[in-house]
Amino acid sequence: MPPICDQLSFVNPVIPFSRNTQGGDRPTLRYGHHITVKGMFLQSCGTRFAVNFQTGFSDNDIAFHFNPRFEGDGYVVCNTKQKGWWGTEERKMENPFQMGIPFEISFLVENSEFKVKVNGKDFMKYTHRVPVHRVDTISFTGGVAVKQISIKDTCAVPVQRIISEVQSYSSPCDSPESKEWKPKPPSYLQATAAPSNPLSAPMA
Ligand code: GAL
Repeated sequence: MPPICDQLSFVNPVIPFSRNTQGGDRPTLRYGHHITVKGMFLQSCGTRFAVNFQTGFSDNDIAFHFNPRFEGDGYVVCNTKQKGWWGTEERKMENPFQMGIPFEISFLVENSEFKVKVNGKDFMKYTHRVPVHRVDTISFTGGVAVKQISIKDTCAVPVQRIISEVQSYSSPCDSPESKEWKPKPPSYLQATAAPSNPLSAPMA
């Protein structure tokens, strides 16, 4: 019997982490997916971090860019990038994250929007600007230490297929050749490269 609900969990992933969901039948993001990220902002790479729901490994097509910024009083920028062009930003003038304090962000993919919770509280919604099925990669950039990423799928898709392509990068500062997946000891990991262009080299 296939499971009704599959769950994947990556503990202490190398950052920036990119989990490509493309398997043999190209499973991609869809309604009902629930992604939970546990981590911490460490200000090692400036004042921002981002979670990107994107197409492929280049950063040209990002369906949902969730970008907390520790600037001024703090705020969160959300946007979509299509063919290399950013759209209109949606800004929430509140930053529920604190440096050095663990957080949990959950993204629920609904029919018309992403519902985002931070530390269990509703934070914001982001209406889909591109079809979610174009999303096959989740990436993290900037000064974020991710302890765990969980992806719950309310539809029955064999875990082996989803997990078949996991790609991650030891550090955004590393060379393209450093592409690898390796589990780390149980501690927070820290991104160390410029948030602006973290994935372009390894994913070219
Ligand atoms: C730009 C920034 C990008 C991205 C974008 C979102 O100013 O360089 O990294 O956050 O805003 O609109």
